[in-house]
Formats: sequence, C-alpha cells, structure tokens
Amino acid sequence: MKTLKVRLGSNSYPIFIGDQQWNKLPELLKLYAAPNHIIIITDRQVARLYLEPFSDALSKAGFAVKSITVEAGEGAKSLGVYEDIITKMLQYGAARDWGVVALGGGVIGDLAGFVAATFMRGLPFYQVPTTLLAQVDASIGGKVGINHPMGKNLIGAFYQPKLVFIDMHFLRSLPEAEIISGMAEIVKHGIIADRGLFLLCEMEMKRLLAIETEPIQQAVFQSCQIKARIVEEDEKEAGIRAILNYGHTIGHALEAASGYRALRHGEAVFWGMLAEAWISHAIGELPEAEFQRLERFFAQIPLKAALDGIDMDEVFSLMSYDKKKKAGKIRFALPVTVGETRLFDDISEDLLRQALSYIQSRPWLS
Ligand SMILES: NC(=O)c1ccc[n+]([C@@H]2O[C@H](COP(=O)([O-])OP(=O)(O)OC[C@H]3O[C@@H](n4cnc5c(N)ncnc54)[C@H](O)[C@@H]3O)[C@@H](O)[C@H]2O)c1
Ligand SMILES: [Zn+2]
Repeated sequence: MKTLKVRLGSNSYPIFIGDQQWNKLPELLKLYAAPNHIIIITDRQVARLYLEPFSDALSKAGFAVKSITVEAGEGAKSLGVYEDIITKMLQYGAARDWGVVALGGGVIGDLAGFVAATFMRGLPFYQVPTTLLAQVDASIGGKVGINHPMGKNLIGAFYQPKLVFIDMHFLRSLPEAEIISGMAEIVKHGIIADRGLFLLCEMEMKRLLAIETEPIQQAVFQSCQIKARIVEEDEKEAGIRAILNYGHTIGHALEAASGYRALRHGEAVFWGMLAEAWISHAIGELPEAEFQRLERFFAQIPLKAALDGIDMDEVFSLMSYDKKKKAGKIRFALPVTVGETRLFDDISEDLLRQALSYIQSRPWLS
C-alpha cells in the first residue's frame, strides 16, 4: 500500500492507496484514533455493492456502526437530503464523539463531508472514495458542500478529512463513463503539473482504462500527489489552486449547455482541455509540437458524446456567468508546456470563439 500526506498544519492527513486492501481500513481508523461510533453515509448503488461487507468489517473490529443510504446521483446534494440525514443521525443518538465515513463517489464525499462539518459544529470525517473522480479529485482538499436550486456547490465549507482511503478494487464495478470522468482529472493533473504522469497516460491509456493494478495505482498516486501539493500551497483557493481549473472554464460551460445530460463532466473537461490548449497555442505560449502532441492524445480518448448538438453561442454566453470570472474578465489556467500551467486574464472573446469552433470541427476526424 502506498501512502501520501497532505500537509496542512494541524489539519494534515494521510492518503492510503492500494488494491484489494480495504480490509485494512478498520486498523487504520484505530491507528488514527477514530471514534468508536461510526456512521457510514453512502448511496443506494454503492450500498448494494459494498455496504454490507464494509460495515461488517468495521463491526468485527469493534466499531459501533450505523449507516444512512441516500438515492444515487447529484440530487442527493440537496438541503432536503441534508436535513433528512441530520434527522436520522439525531434519531440514532449521534453525538460529538461520533465519526462520519463517506463511502461513495464525489456526491457522497461532498454531502457526507458537509454533514460532518456541520453536525454539532463538526465530527471527524473519513473519506472512502469509490469512483475514480472522487479518488483523484473530490476526496482530497476539503471542499465539501451541497447544491442550491440556484446553483451547484453554493452551500459548503472547507473541511478536511482525517484520512482518505483509496482502493482500486472499487473501480472495477464502475461503468466506463465514470472511468472516463475520473481519467479526465488524472490527465488534467499531468498536463498542469506532472509531465511524467502525462507520459504515463499517453503510453498506458488502454491499461489505465482497464484498471490494471500497476498503472492505475501509479496514476492515482501521482494524481493525488499533485492535488495534495496544490491544496497545501493554497488551501482556501486564494491563488494557485485555480490552476486546477484547467479544462473546466470551457468544460463547465459545455456541460451546462448540454443540459448536464448529453455531456458528462469528464467528457466536457476533455473537450475543455483541448480548447484551452488551443488558446494557449494561439497566444504563443504552448509550443506547436506540444500542442500537436496533446491533439493526438485527446483524439484517442474514447469520448462518446459528440459536440454537434451543442450551441456554441450558448456556451459562450454561459461562460460570462462562470464563477471563475474575475473583475469582468474570464481567468484561464493554460498549460505553457505539458507539466506547467499559468493563469491568464487577458484572453479575447474572439479567441474564445475560435477555440470553440476548433473543438466543434475536430480537425483530426477530417
Ligand atoms: N469536493 C471537491 O473538491 C470536488 C471535486 C470534483 C467534483 N466534486 C463533486 O463530485 C460529484 C461528482 O462525483 P462522481 O463523479 O464521483 O459522482 P457520483 O458520486 O454521483 O458517482 C457516480 C455514480 O457512480 C456510482 N458509483 C459510485 N461508486 C461506484 C462503484 N465503485 N461501482 C459502481 N458504481 C459506483 C454512484 O452510485 C453514482 O451513480 C459532483 O457533485 C461534484 O460537484 C467535488
Ligand atoms: Zn472536474
């Protein structure tokens, strides 16, 4: 099992990464002084696959375990579900000496983390991410929260977990679309800050998508390391953490323009990364050879959804509402080479429109 540390002073925590190791979780929880009373928050889909063996293992190790299962999907990140969970916890007699384990994808991590952050002013929180996206992105960094009808993640907090436990085993029951979703964030971490990780993606994409132990564990490890280093430098997203938005400035708008249906988050981010790499090349930052290399790489990702049905004028206007817009200008995190990214505030509307028509025309298909 590999270990990483997120160093945030008194909020520091370890990340454990392994394959078929989740029977080790109870002893690790004890090692990190977890409370005896544990409440597992999960969703119906994950519960069906993993809840029973998971909670049995904790019970056998002497923990007093309760669980709460919510419907799967983004809808669970709502005030209504949040209130239901709090009510259930109170009925169970939960108190300040209980701990919360999130067993699930990013939705469960964000929701359970927000419950942990706010229930009686805070309970210790443990992340057991079961999607690739949650393993390499959402479970690290302490952003927790729920949605409001007026927008995503509008209610939330920075609340770091006490421990993150990542097992490749969970990934083998994930549908391919969910694997692609997480892979987008791995590729992103490579392009923004770790050339070696990008090379691994370039050479081993087939084996990564097939969740072969050695390459996937290595990619997840390096990916978590990048996210951890960036979070350490900028816990509350006052500056450098914004480079994690590479591919997301355009990606979020594409996702929204598709009505959050046709395009999944990861697919939208793949297209966003390509468009933003195009912009970086167009302003003379990303060298020609690097851009072509990225273009070749993105062309081999098995993206299902086409961009044909998406109205690029809508994407364009949605971007002016993106919360990454600063002082009237849209801020872009652009790779200046594979492995290094800088922030740019002065990208013209014209370039942005050209980048959108570039991805829509997908030159390598012609
Ligand atoms: N906090 C952060 O920093 C951060 C970062 C990125 C994304 N997010 C949030 O993460 C959420 C998306 O996360 P996600 O993509 O993991 O979605 P998700 O949690 O909805 O999981 C996707 C689907 O996979 C199912 N699933 C989970 N684990 C499984 C497994 N092992 N086998 C089979 N099915 C499984 C779930 O039931 C769900 O239906 C969004 O709400 C987003 O806002 C948060
Ligand atoms: Zn993302």
